[in-house]
Amino acid sequence: MFHSLSMPEPDKILALMPIFRRDERPNKIDLGVGVYRDASGITPVFRAVTEAESRILAEQTTKTYVGPAGDQLFCELMTKLVFSDHGPLERISAIQTPGGAGALTVLCGLIAKTAPNATVLVPDPSWVNHLSILEDFGLTAQRWSYLDKATGAADFEAMRRAVLSARAGDVILLHGCCHNPSGADLTREQWRDLGSLLVETGVVPFVDLAYQGFGDGLEDDAFGVRHLAATVPNMLVASSCSKNFGIYRERTGVAFVLGRTQELSKIAQANMVVRARIGYSMPPDHGARIVSTILQDDHLASDWRSELEEMRSTIVGLRQALAQAFRLRSQSERYDFLIGNKGMFSQLGVMPQQVERLRSEFAIYMVEDGRINIAGLHPDKIAHFVDAVTHVIRSS
Ligand code: LMR
Repeated sequence: MFHSLSMPEPDKILALMPIFRRDERPNKIDLGVGVYRDASGITPVFRAVTEAESRILAEQTTKTYVGPAGDQLFCELMTKLVFSDHGPLERISAIQTPGGAGALTVLCGLIAKTAPNATVLVPDPSWVNHLSILEDFGLTAQRWSYLDKATGAADFEAMRRAVLSARAGDVILLHGCCHNPSGADLTREQWRDLGSLLVETGVVPFVDLAYQGFGDGLEDDAFGVRHLAATVPNMLVASSCSKNFGIYRERTGVAFVLGRTQELSKIAQANMVVRARIGYSMPPDHGARIVSTILQDDHLASDWRSELEEMRSTIVGLRQALAQAFRLRSQSERYDFLIGNKGMFSQLGVMPQQVERLRSEFAIYMVEDGRINIAGLHPDKIAHFVDAVTHVIRSS
């Protein structure tokens, strides 16, 4: 047993966390894993989450099993948060999952079951775990070049070519908002064009929505997913509560399917339940209960929305300050793309060996592909960060 195994490559994002914790340099900066940090460097618990937890603690009378599909009320509230009251709700089914990655896993399992020969078009770059999950189910992934290197924006023409080269029934993996790792989102017009293209070709959208609320706001960030839901016959959506409720370790997410008919949607849901039962039996309950307690209560929901909005505007402010500091230092507009990017992430355009030098010489941590989590940057550290990046680029 085990002798045929080899040591896997460390995860490009998660491997940084323990190394950063062990680093004793006082001026260290963590721009690695995608978590929000406040001005004191803490990933705070939302006020509404603390209040919801105290209510749960006071009122919960049992911890007996809920079931593989999770809590129905949570799923209903999340369906409305993602798709609004006006989406084709009767054709949308959901199950609660262990985080967004759990939703992706359930949905990839569903694709492998229903369309094992489908090719999944995956943007390059994308979140590092996307390919691992797809490959684990034996699904064929095909990359397309997502970014226009000259502008730092999404290369919609490349996306169009990728969709047109696919077969009906193939799947395209999309980031609903705050594209991870590039921060380059589609415009509304591009979402509309994409919707028409998907209808024309029969390619099925599979949307990963992990940062709703961090780009332009809770409603605006859902534009793409809502537009597609109103347009295409079939869709898969993985949604995460980790970031926008700040409940990262509670592992709370939702896997949604939109079916051509209500009946097909229900059959797909029943198959997701089977995937859940095989994979982990039932999702953890606590995070989902927190979310449903908040979303059901007007006062808590409004407080949660305003705290999320504060986080969003902090990130927008950091983006502007960072771009301005780079502009002054480089005497160019080369880094202005940082302002146009949405959410926590941008790609700085540094090489892996420069990323390594930033870590060893300046205690600045970022993902190997140059992805930075803007929320990890305190305003007081921007000047030091810009100096370090400029120094490393110029001396490489
Ligand atoms: C990230 O992209 O940093 C987060 O989603 C954490 C993770 O699981 O990779």
